[in-house]
Amino acid sequence: MKKIIIAIDGFSSCGKSTMAKDLAREIGYIYIDSGAMYRAVTLYCLEHGLFQGDTIDTERLKAELPDLDIAFKLNHETGRPQTYLDGKLVENDIRTLAVSSKVSIVAALDFVREAMVRLQQQMGHEKGIVMDGRDIGTTVFPDAELKIFVTASPEIRAHRRFDELQAKGEPGSYEEILHNVEERDRIDMNRSVSPLRKADDAIELDNSHLTIQEQKEWLLARFREATGTK
Ligand code: DC
Repeated sequence: MKKIIIAIDGFSSCGKSTMAKDLAREIGYIYIDSGAMYRAVTLYCLEHGLFQGDTIDTERLKAELPDLDIAFKLNHETGRPQTYLDGKLVENDIRTLAVSSKVSIVAALDFVREAMVRLQQQMGHEKGIVMDGRDIGTTVFPDAELKIFVTASPEIRAHRRFDELQAKGEPGSYEEILHNVEERDRIDMNRSVSPLRKADDAIELDNSHLTIQEQKEWLLARFREATGTK
């Protein structure tokens, strides 16, 4: 069967990655979390002292970015890909509130976006991928055969993030997380380079009140439509 590219975009914490991962596993595609790449760059900046408060040393980052090695490797136990930065497993380190609260600053830098988009396009060269992010259907793969734009209310998204952090024993209050979610929406939608917006040909999915199972069935139906399979 002909392989396609599936682009899943939308607001932060609306379950894009869970749905994208599950779909990829179900249809035998490769899942790529583009947000993890911006998070990995942010972790690098935090660990190497490139931040002064919310200001970033862009000259240093520009010089050091080409040498950053961001990769995904499959965890054979879970069957899911994990993020590596310069050979080190950073899957948990990139999900902390410290990284979440700085990542929009890094993701708004044009030279960072150019480098990440180039990497993402290389990863999709052979198709058969599900990639989630903010600009996948608009900038990275404007010709993707299936584009989904996911939304959910900020409160529901903050609850999901809060539960996720609690389960991992990470700190963070609900109010703090809600503020972070709203702040990231604002920055993601208003940045000058590749702002978050729905591609004209994307199908919208508001999953505020959908169960994981309902969402999964909905997605599979869209996949079958896009590939002309039953
Ligand atoms: O999906 P996420 O929360 O892990 O994304 C982290 C940040 O990266 C978020 O602030 C938006 C940004 N991002 C982006 O600008 N473009 C993408 N394709 C993916 C994520």
